[in-house]
Amino acid sequence: MENYKKEITICLGSSCFARGNKATLKIINNYIKENKLEDKIFFHGSRCFGKCEHGPIIKIDDKLYEQVNETKIIKILDENLKKI
Ligand code: FES
Repeated sequence: MENYKKEITICLGSSCFARGNKATLKIINNYIKENKLEDKIFFHGSRCFGKCEHGPIIKIDDKLYEQVNETKIIKILDENLKKI
């Protein structure tokens, strides 16, 4: 984490993955590339968070986002990554 400003964790457990995180994963990767944030964001996957019923789940630093979809994720990324 030393040089990273933010950590994004995406749940790649089978429930979240099948219900939207497969697409969200691509969207986040594209967003990081387009905004040249590769050096600032530590983006990685994780196993099931144990919150499948609230999924798809992503986490930014310590904040958990539930029911993330393709529309919501852009808003979440804009909110969190605009000023870093
Ligand atoms: S698969 Fe994501 S919380 Fe269980």
